Amino acid sequence: MIDDVLKPIHGGTDSGPPPRYDFSTNANGLGPDPYALKAIQQTDPSHYPDPLYTQIHAELAQFHGVAPEQVAVGAGTSELIHRLTRLRFLRGPMLILPPTFSEYARAAQPAELPLLKADSPEQFLRLLPQSTLAILCVPNNPTGEVYSFLHEAAEIAQRRQVVLALDLAYHPLTQNPPSLPPTAWRLFSPNKAHGLTGVRAGYLVAPIDLNYFRHTAASWVLGVHGEAFLREVLQSRSQEWLSWSRAELWRLRAELAQGLRALGLEVQESAANFLLVRVGRATELALKLREQGLRVRDCTSFGLPEWLRLSAQRPEAQAALLEAMASCLTQKH
Ligand SMILES: Cc1ncc(COP(=O)(O)O)c(C=O)c1O
Repeated sequence: MIDDVLKPIHGGTDSGPPPRYDFSTNANGLGPDPYALKAIQQTDPSHYPDPLYTQIHAELAQFHGVAPEQVAVGAGTSELIHRLTRLRFLRGPMLILPPTFSEYARAAQPAELPLLKADSPEQFLRLLPQSTLAILCVPNNPTGEVYSFLHEAAEIAQRRQVVLALDLAYHPLTQNPPSLPPTAWRLFSPNKAHGLTGVRAGYLVAPIDLNYFRHTAASWVLGVHGEAFLREVLQSRSQEWLSWSRAELWRLRAELAQGLRALGLEVQESAANFLLVRVGRATELALKLREQGLRVRDCTSFGLPEWLRLSAQRPEAQAALLEAMASCLTQKH
């Protein structure tokens, strides 16, 4: 039986009607990337992709400056995380640093990995040698924290033969991103940065030969659209669009933070394209906003019941949110 606490509540998905504005997903609010979208639309889906993904592995490897066998594609980072937890040589405890992305704990449960939850970076480093797999989200979802202990963690992990995996979902949207230890396993989900989360495509880059890992997925785990998407986001036109949009998102995030502070709210800004705002009863406010066509991420499931996570969105969306929040907060008093 899946523990209730572990039922996934992901941003960007609920069963209600499509919202007017969606602040709950951390995908690039200025997307989709027009080049990646075009590449997907021009893809002919009448054939299977190459089951070995030889070409796309080679292109991703070249982009990251590693050997092709160090890369494995998957149907998104979530799928790759689930596969990691099922690896034969990772059968011991899995270490995480909550509050963080719920999928790590969700994957550990059916894989029957004991879960170690560190309550501070110091404890994370202390518990590392007791784990076989440790996952850190960089920057962290939902707090946006960028950890300063990545190299120290990687050094301990290497010495104690622990796999340290870094989930880099929002790394390409981060201001002054931290340098990444080369011995860490790196999970990439460019569908976030390019605003195309419906495309299920991600990849893993590791300091080892991933041939065995590749065979832990069903054949054709990534469809032709995912393959076309990954290929396009490596191109300079798509990378240039990303650079433009991320600078714009940082500006919009700062504007949103300023607007929220002007409402008297405490804001925890991050280096990425999202922030946390303390609103009191987050679930109540999230439901009220949803009724007005505004979807926000209630952080209760992260253990933060007073906070909402909001991503930077276009100016008109942010203006509508600030207006709705001002009116909801006045009604409360
Ligand atoms: C931190 C983090 N990692 C991974 C994912 C999922 O990525 P993908 O769409 O590649 O499965 C999410 C989605 O919300 C996320 O927040």
